[in-house]
Parts: sequence; C-alpha cells; structure tokens
Amino acid sequence: MRILVIGGAGYIGSHVVKSLLNTGFDVRVYDDLSTGKRINLFKQAEFVEGSLLDMESLKKALDNVDGVVHLAAKKAVGESMAEPEKYANNNLIGAINLLNAMTDKNVKYLVFSSSAAVYGMPQTPQLNESHPLNPINFYGFTKLEMERFMEWYDRLKGIKFVSLRYFNAVGYDEDGDILGLEEKPQNLLPVVMETLFGIRSQMSIFGNDYDTPDGTCIRDYIHVTDLATAHTLALQYLERENTSQILNLGTGTGHSVLEMIQETERIVNQKINYTMAPRRSGDPAKLTASSEKAQSILGWQPKHSDLENIIRSTWHVYQNTYEKNQN
Ligand SMILES: NC(=O)c1ccc[n+]([C@@H]2O[C@H](COP(=O)([O-])OP(=O)(O)OC[C@H]3O[C@@H](n4cnc5c(N)ncnc54)[C@H](O)[C@@H]3O)[C@@H](O)[C@H]2O)c1
Repeated sequence: MRILVIGGAGYIGSHVVKSLLNTGFDVRVYDDLSTGKRINLFKQAEFVEGSLLDMESLKKALDNVDGVVHLAAKKAVGESMAEPEKYANNNLIGAINLLNAMTDKNVKYLVFSSSAAVYGMPQTPQLNESHPLNPINFYGFTKLEMERFMEWYDRLKGIKFVSLRYFNAVGYDEDGDILGLEEKPQNLLPVVMETLFGIRSQMSIFGNDYDTPDGTCIRDYIHVTDLATAHTLALQYLERENTSQILNLGTGTGHSVLEMIQETERIVNQKINYTMAPRRSGDPAKLTASSEKAQSILGWQPKHSDLENIIRSTWHVYQNTYEKNQN
C-alpha cells in the first residue's frame, strides 16, 4: 500500500513514517513545515511540501495513494482558546478539505490523530472510549468535530477511518533516527529537558495539593514509538476489516509530574530547578486511558513506554542538539 502521511515531518508523524517504512509500506509525506522539520524526513519516503489548505496540491499528493495518516494540526490548547480562528482553519477546514480530496480521488482509508482532549473533565480516573465527550478547550472541540465528520463521510462516502485518541505523547526514537526538537514546547518532558539544558532558567509545577499520592497531577505517558506502531496496525486493520474504529492510546498507568522530574534527576544525575505554582484551571488530578479496545482490536501493546526509556530517549536527543552546539 502507498500511504500519504500528512504532518509526517512533525514529532509524531516522523515516528509514524519510520514505522510504516519498516513494515514495508510505500510512504509519501505531505507537510507545510509550519512546525515540522526537514531533519525529521526519511530519504526512503517521498516528500511533498504543501498545505491542507491548498486543495489542488493536496489532490495531487493523493495520486495513487491507498490510505492516509492525518496528523497535521495545531495543538496548543491555550492558543486554541485565544485564537480559535487559527484552529478552525487548520484543524477543521484543512481536515474537511482532506475528506473532500479523498472522496474526489477515491481514497478509502484514513487514520486520524485524535486526542484525550475530546473527553474534557474526566468523570472516572481511567477513561474508556464510551466516557462522555465534553471538550473544555477549542483544540479538543476541533478533534471531536473531525471524528463526527469522519463518521458522516464513512456513512455517505465509504471512507473507513481509525481515530486514535492519544494521551500524552513522549519519548524519541531509540535508534536516534529522529532528532527534530519542538520549538517553545509546552508538554512536561520537553520543558523538563529545556530546564536541564539551561534553555529555561526554571520550570513550574502547577499545583501540589491535588488528591494524588504526592499532590501533583497524574498523566498517562505513552512512548511515541508505541503510538507509531498503532498507526501501522490501524492501516493493516482497515485493509483487512474495512471497518471504522475510535480507539484510546495510552498505557493505563499514570505518572505524576513530580515523579517525572525526580526520575529525570535520578537518570541524568542532575538537579532540575523547579518551583511550585498555583493550579491551572481545567487540569484534572488524574487522567489515564483504558486502551483495552486498541489492544483487542489492533493487537497493540505498548512496549517502549516505561519511564526510564521515555526519559533516556528524550535526553539523548536534547544532548545531541545542545551539547553538540556547545562544542
Ligand atoms: N504531542 C501530543 O502529545 C499529542 C497528543 C494528542 C494528539 N496529538 C495530535 O497529534 C498530531 C501530531 O502532533 P505532533 O506532536 O507531532 O505535532 P507537530 O506540530 O510536531 O506535527 C504537526 C505536523 O503537521 C504539519 N502541519 C500543520 N498544519 C499543516 C497544514 N495545514 N498542512 C500541512 N502540514 C501541516 C506541521 O508542519 C507538522 O509537521 C496533531 O494532530 C496533534 O493534535 C498530539
């Protein structure tokens, strides 16, 4: 199968490209490089520079394609509340363009990057796919809307999809094949690393009075290589079963913010400069996934998501970037 990976120059997309190439798929990457990086591209995959908002270029990129992995989106929750128009354009109009272009070119399989943000505030500590859907930010709303669009395009146009609701994506390729670092990251581990390497003078822990063992928030951290494998399995599933699915991807095991920082300090044998700050609104105490459905439907199992592996693989990429630059 030839697969178009939209957003394949990004953090998760580049890991998906590697997994697809290793499984023997023919891969074409489509990316506007707005946040993606050339350094993340694999020479074994064809690269087309272009935007989801350019319908003609998008249709051309879909020539002779059997399936699509769509990862291209803006993803900063705070920004989505301040500038919803940016998110409406990119995450919704862009994604609807894709559904229309796929219809036009008769491409039938789509794997979509959704998010735990579709659920909103958790009503249970561990969430399965039938948990109520009540996004509390515009970013999560765009992901939920896209799932609804895909359901309609399945019914009306026969596009079969697997929507993967990622929890917290972390870690880097363990072979060191993917080295692009995100600029101005907002996720915990990159912020820990930036503090470690002096790019930030210090970091904050938002709230240490939650109802958790150490008082800090607990999240479900899933290694990006495990996420990537799920996309490959999802495409194989679509080809085999021709049925749409919505699936959580997480480990089911949570780690607290403090635990992540202290584990990093232990592994790198260095102190991290952090302070306690007040809670942020909209942060639940605990958010973990039940991924039993992905396990039974795709035969997927997280294999790279132990904390040590997550931290070491991230540290190596930061070392490669910052220690090399200093020499
Ligand atoms: N990182 C996480 O923890 C996380 C969690 C849940 C869901 N997601 C979703 O996973 C997907 C990938 O996230 P990521 O962390 O790799 O982000 P990223 O910013 O590294 O990757 C997004 C890629 O899409 C490209 N892109 C953006 N808009 C585009 C457009 N209009 N046309 C063409 N290309 C475009 C960017 O250049 C980039 O390469 C996103 O859809 C995000 O919402 C990420």
